[in-house]
Amino acid sequence: MPPYWLPWLVLLSLDCATGNWPFTTTRAQGLRGRIQRDRRNIRPNIILIMTDDQDVELGSLQVMNKTRKIMEDGGTSFINAFVTTPMCCPSRSSMLTGKYVHNHNTYTNNENCSSPSWQAHHEPRSFAVYLNNTGYRTAFFGKYLNEYNGSYIPPGWREWVGLIKNSRFYNYTVCRNGYKEKHGADYAKDYFTDLITNDSINFFRMSKKVYPHRPVMMVISHAAPHGPEDSAPQYAEHFPNASQHITPSYNYAPNMDKHWIMQYTGPMKPIHMEFTNFLHRKRLQTLMSVDDSVQKVYNMLEETGELENTYIIYTADHGYHIGQFGLVKGKSMPYDFDIHVPFFLRGPNVQPGAVNPHLVLNIDLAPTILHIAGLDTPPDMDGKSILKLLEQERTGNRFKPNRKPKVWRDTFLVERGKILRKKDDSMNTQHTNSLPKYKKVRETCQQAEFQTPCEQPGQVTVCSQPLSRPLILSGEDKYVLDLLMNGSEDVVCTWCKPLCKHVL
Ligand SMILES: *[C@@H]1O[C@H](CO)[C@@H](O)[C@H](O)[C@H]1NC(C)=O
Ligand SMILES: *[C@@H]1O[C@H](CO)[C@@H](O)[C@H](O)[C@H]1NC(C)=O
Ligand SMILES: *[C@@H]1O[C@H](CO)[C@@H](O)[C@H](O)[C@H]1NC(C)=O
Ligand SMILES: *[C@@H]1O[C@H](CO)[C@@H](O)[C@H](O)[C@H]1NC(C)=O
Ligand SMILES: *[C@@H]1O[C@H](CO)[C@@H](O)[C@H](O)[C@H]1NC(C)=O
Ligand SMILES: *[C@@H]1O[C@H](CO)[C@@H](O)[C@H](O)[C@H]1NC(C)=O
Ligand SMILES: *[C@@H]1O[C@H](CO)[C@@H](O)[C@H](O)[C@H]1NC(C)=O
Ligand SMILES: *[C@@H]1O[C@H](CO)[C@@H](O)[C@H](O)[C@H]1NC(C)=O
Repeated sequence: MPPYWLPWLVLLSLDCATGNWPFTTTRAQGLRGRIQRDRRNIRPNIILIMTDDQDVELGSLQVMNKTRKIMEDGGTSFINAFVTTPMCCPSRSSMLTGKYVHNHNTYTNNENCSSPSWQAHHEPRSFAVYLNNTGYRTAFFGKYLNEYNGSYIPPGWREWVGLIKNSRFYNYTVCRNGYKEKHGADYAKDYFTDLITNDSINFFRMSKKVYPHRPVMMVISHAAPHGPEDSAPQYAEHFPNASQHITPSYNYAPNMDKHWIMQYTGPMKPIHMEFTNFLHRKRLQTLMSVDDSVQKVYNMLEETGELENTYIIYTADHGYHIGQFGLVKGKSMPYDFDIHVPFFLRGPNVQPGAVNPHLVLNIDLAPTILHIAGLDTPPDMDGKSILKLLEQERTGNRFKPNRKPKVWRDTFLVERGKILRKKDDSMNTQHTNSLPKYKKVRETCQQAEFQTPCEQPGQVTVCSQPLSRPLILSGEDKYVLDLLMNGSEDVVCTWCKPLCKHVL
């Protein structure tokens, strides 16, 4: 039996018919021309700052005053920035290669994430390789791909400080230029956000000292605000009552008009809601160190005289939900909270304080970075350079609201899935004293405390089955549930709510 493809595919379309899309007929000198002119002198530095799991919807940027001053006031905000797959490893692989997931084959955070086939076919075509080949001094600091285990340095990176495995703030190991470096839990020596900040600043300074005429491209890839959400000690008491995560869709459940998981996800219990408040607070606290980091990098650029010749991009691998539609926490859902990401760009000829409404995607990062470096987009990349949008924005003081730029997308694909093999029955007979994970999850979820009464203020619901009985899932739904439980980092019991019917 051949493997088959079990995806969910969603085509999202931005309704732009009523928006004021910047459009101009003025033939101003293009950004590309200006970049090429700069090149004769010295090509610009490029800094990509990334966070792990940072939302737009939950207001996390609201607390990042320094970052907003530098990136929002000092650069252009892309307010319709999305990721094509809202999961860490697939999205990061897309950022590196400029490809949709179905073209780089990293469908989940496990299989094919940093795998031999990824290393053989896709990693050698990351933007780092192209930039290194054209003379950039390339450097990577921080979280890479979830399954990266430090056994090699990915191609294209001259300086490499890559986190082994998934995000941590303490007690982690990095691969530093081929050597494994273990870190403990001493704030001053080990706090990961600060380590990344210090290393990247030191590299940049050193690089400009030794090779003043070589441009630098570096990625600063923070673990924040991902779990385990350990903040710096000085921020541990911040935001006692933060409530930005209570959005209109908070605890709005079940949703019978949405895909099947949402139909099985009931309202949260008070204990879950308390947890969402706690989690939101912890996430914001970790972001304070990222905010400091952005300021330090900015100050360093000013001090070295490189600010005017540096592009900075700030974005995240995907969004996050905390209570939206009753989902306690996590990502990987095809809704705005998980696919909408922060996206700012500042640099030479990028209009400060501007808002750009075009649809930009994680797959656009690689082509954009290449474009800044003066390189064309390789034909196998799916994304497009967003610099073109800036030219229109910059010179666009004459709007023609009825005309949209013909060249830009108004639709994109959101995909998530996994190649499945025929179910292997030997799994069930393996000798182990622990139950298979999916059984444990189901048993846990059958306990009364994880079952949610359907009543909550302002909502009238009727349960279609008694609360004490487990969910009855059949056929493909059950298989998909297993799949989600097995493949997800965050196993929560939200999806084993009794099936409730919404009565309006
Ligand atoms: C950010 O700035 C606003 C307005 O100046 C201020 O009220 C708020 O306390 C600042 N937030 C932080 C975390 O510093
Ligand atoms: C891993 O990627 C290869 C191609 O690079 C693909 O043939 C294979 O199906 C992928 N495996 C999984 C489990 O997705
Ligand atoms: C690390 O990953 C590589 C594949 O990328 C694998 O060959 C190797 O066995 C792994 N090493 C460890 C210690 O897990
Ligand atoms: C960078 O490019 C140079 C020149 O093409 C090459 O010799 C070198 O091996 C590359 N370094 C990395 C880390 O890929
Ligand atoms: C780090 O590891 C030490 C020793 O195992 C442990 O005591 C400590 O709680 C850990 N700290 C964190 C933040 O993980
Ligand atoms: C980062 O650098 C600052 C300033 O030099 C220092 O105080 C701090 O301990 C460093 N942190 C880490 C984790 O290296
Ligand atoms: C936060 O909430 C607590 C109780 O929920 C209240 O006592 C306290 O005054 C609030 N703090 C602020 C700064 O609003
Ligand atoms: C989930 O994991 C269990 C136990 O490891 C396995 O039996 C089951 O087949 C897996 N389900 C899927 C869909 O991969």
